[in-house]
Amino acid sequence: MADNKVYIFDTTLRDGEQVPGCKLNTKEKIELALALEELGVDILEAGFPISSPGDFTSVEEISKIIKNASVCGLSRAVQKDIEVAAAALKHAKRPRIHTGIGTSDYHIKGKFNSTREEILERAVQCVKWAKNFVDDVEFYAEDAGRTDNEYLAKVVEAVIKAGATVVNIPDTTGYCLPHQYGAKIAFLRNNVSNIDNAILSCHCHNDLGLATANSIEGVINGARQIECTINGLGERAGNTSLEEVVMVLKQHQHELGFHTSINTKQLNPMSRLVSDTMRMPVQPNKAIVGANAFSHSSGIHQDGFLKSAITYEIIDPVDVGADTSKIVLTARSGRSALAFRLKNLGYDFNRNDVDALYEKFLQVADSKKEVGDEDLHQMVKQYEPVTA
Ligand code: KIV
Ligand code: ZN
Repeated sequence: MADNKVYIFDTTLRDGEQVPGCKLNTKEKIELALALEELGVDILEAGFPISSPGDFTSVEEISKIIKNASVCGLSRAVQKDIEVAAAALKHAKRPRIHTGIGTSDYHIKGKFNSTREEILERAVQCVKWAKNFVDDVEFYAEDAGRTDNEYLAKVVEAVIKAGATVVNIPDTTGYCLPHQYGAKIAFLRNNVSNIDNAILSCHCHNDLGLATANSIEGVINGARQIECTINGLGERAGNTSLEEVVMVLKQHQHELGFHTSINTKQLNPMSRLVSDTMRMPVQPNKAIVGANAFSHSSGIHQDGFLKSAITYEIIDPVDVGADTSKIVLTARSGRSALAFRLKNLGYDFNRNDVDALYEKFLQVADSKKEVGDEDLHQMVKQYEPVTA
């Protein structure tokens, strides 16, 4: 494949918004959609128009204001859903209908009480319905992660023949191991005769914490779109986290050779905006956007970091719009960290003084979780210098 651009399909406003407590009104969705466009996402899944009148309005209003990104609306393989999605997307400059059906035997038997043949027909039919309204139709094979590869290849070939421009291979339950998901994408690339007429998309859930690894493995094996959300929000354990996949591709650009259109300096501001708007805190140890992503607290790490940042940081925080790296003082911190923080507060102590202050520091540090600037000022006030 010549083109090594990986398209970023953001579904924060659809799959992310399905999280209990994260529901957004139209005004909030518009604000986030504008920020996502600014971030550089290629496709913005704005909602599921048939699900509620409010969501219809959100997709409609977002369609009116988004200039560069494709705006996408979700539907089931149901004619009415598709008509409603098309109506909501009427004003979009680049409308995309995302339609599909479950293809694993769990879905075929358990959910639809149907057969593989019937589901294949419904898959083709929904793409044809959507094609009556828009050129850009994405088909999703729900639970593709647990779908038999031979059957999945038949479905993919048939929906591409029916006009699907993108075929989404969701690991809906987050079940696959990275090598299995990668092998699935490779199988489709090698066994679907018309595969070059569509883009394969990864949509991985995080039930086993593998969503990012699976998406990257999908791209390595031939997918060129990743569906993801800010802060990894989404059903259950969430979706692939946008900031993670984008930074994996960026940090490993030399080996992997892929690029995205994301302005990575916007990643932290975007994460905060989503967290505030959805009232969903980000775990402090979250990669890229967590409060501790660029904090160093143990003496060994602090000493190495202060000598050369690259010793303990693979990403420059400036590159992802994070605050500068932090040297946090705890009972595990060392002398270099203490000297660094004292210097930042304007104190100029020599080595002997720092050694003496360090003993006092440890007493304070053992009595609390973190030693702050005020504690340091107090320590200095009470300190009688070793040397004049
Ligand atoms: O996880 C999933 O399978 C989905 C589809 C609706 C694309 O979200
Ligand atoms: Zn999903």
